[in-house]
Amino acid sequence: MTYRQALKHHIFKIISHSAEELQIECYVIGGFVRDYLLERGDAKDIDVVAVGSGIELAQQVSKNLETNPKVQIFKTYGTAMLRYDDIEVEFVGARKESYHENSRNPFVENGTLQDDQNRRDFTINALALSLNKANFGELLDPFNGIEDLEKGIIRTPLDPDITYSDDPLRMMRAIRFATQLNFKIEEQSLKAIADNKDRIKIITKERIVTELNKILESDKPSIGFKLLEKTGLLDFILPELTALKGIDEVEGQRHKDNFYHTLEVVDNICETTDNLWLRWAALLHDIGKAPTKKFSKKVGWTFHGHEFVGSKMVYKLFKRLKMPLNDKMKFVQKMVLMSSRPIVLASEVTDSAVRRLVFDAGEHVDDLMTLCEADITTKNPKKFKKYHNNFKLVRDKIVEVEERDRVRNFQPPVSGEEIMKAFNLKPSKEIGIIKEAIKEAILEGDIPNEHEAAYQLMIEKGKKLGLTVAV
Ligand code: CTP
Repeated sequence: MTYRQALKHHIFKIISHSAEELQIECYVIGGFVRDYLLERGDAKDIDVVAVGSGIELAQQVSKNLETNPKVQIFKTYGTAMLRYDDIEVEFVGARKESYHENSRNPFVENGTLQDDQNRRDFTINALALSLNKANFGELLDPFNGIEDLEKGIIRTPLDPDITYSDDPLRMMRAIRFATQLNFKIEEQSLKAIADNKDRIKIITKERIVTELNKILESDKPSIGFKLLEKTGLLDFILPELTALKGIDEVEGQRHKDNFYHTLEVVDNICETTDNLWLRWAALLHDIGKAPTKKFSKKVGWTFHGHEFVGSKMVYKLFKRLKMPLNDKMKFVQKMVLMSSRPIVLASEVTDSAVRRLVFDAGEHVDDLMTLCEADITTKNPKKFKKYHNNFKLVRDKIVEVEERDRVRNFQPPVSGEEIMKAFNLKPSKEIGIIKEAIKEAILEGDIPNEHEAAYQLMIEKGKKLGLTVAV
């Protein structure tokens, strides 16, 4: 079967010609071929394998391109990369590899195309298209990857124990591809992942997080998290989530399984947002429930303070996984901390409570509402509708209150300097007391968020504090 269609881009002609000049064979392999056959759109990353030196081929290609792009060489890996238009091409020499027990750094030996295909992760990633003149566009598929593509199966070319043990990151990749493509991991492979799960320890946190992010960016991340749980990998990566598993029963009272509930919330939120960090917030919104779980005869199961505890856990988790500790982490913490606020509100939607919510959530109030709506996982259609309607009321009220009171990015209507001037004060605690009183009065709805009313209140409050108005 030939797929010349896939190789229409000018760059392939140049690569083909360059390889001929060097008298070596070369092939496009991996993600580009897979995604072309899956009609996932034109991939911008092209992997080329040369039966010979990948670095020399890259240099020849650069010479032959009118733009003469810079060739970036990665000596330790024997690879080279160049950019052309918006495309990134990586060149590698075909190789046989074997790995050290405790690291991902392989011993590398030159090999044939077939050797190179053998050492790849999955049959669907080992598909190669020839760039050689004699059979340009021919598909080389020694493991029947095309059938796995059609049937939706993730399978390793070699014994999965070898493939995963060689590079344990592939266990995460298998699960990530299964999630992105909605494929099944073949049984032997799934078993091998479970058997080799400990080896994930030698993989850097950054690489693990890259895969986790890709799972979270999929349409239905629960597929991936269920597989991570089933294979035992989740215990190594996110034990905070496995701790949510299970349903306890005391005196006939049960709580819901917060692990599966969480996965439902994540899938729900993926229907309404592409924001990766809001998806992380959905994944972590209940992690405080494991350490705060209690049973009391009077009220049954409780998780008091789980939002606060959870938000503290977010920091530790991000730090452990070497994730950013910047505003993204703070956003996730804030979402977790506030995740129950709108729920309390939904039973009685008062202006002042909504104002406080908007004040506290600030610019993230819409994200918070999205999280809370995704959190509705009841299977009772009546309740489902009722909760959604209540949140709709809260959303309407947010708009109404915001138009009137503008507390989303609250700026005190009377500044500290004005207060000092009015009472001829030096910096002192009275200024803070007056500012707080003004803010409270606005949030409570006692005065509008306007300068005049706030100034008036300042005078009254100042007098009560025993201050005299400067003339
Ligand atoms: N590969 C592998 N083992 C890995 C990583 C990659 O065998 N741990 C091989 C696969 O053949 C893969 C190719 O290298 O197709 C390119 O890897 P990469 O660019 O990371 O992934 P893609 O398959 O292109 O997919 P994506 O871009 O979605 O990550």
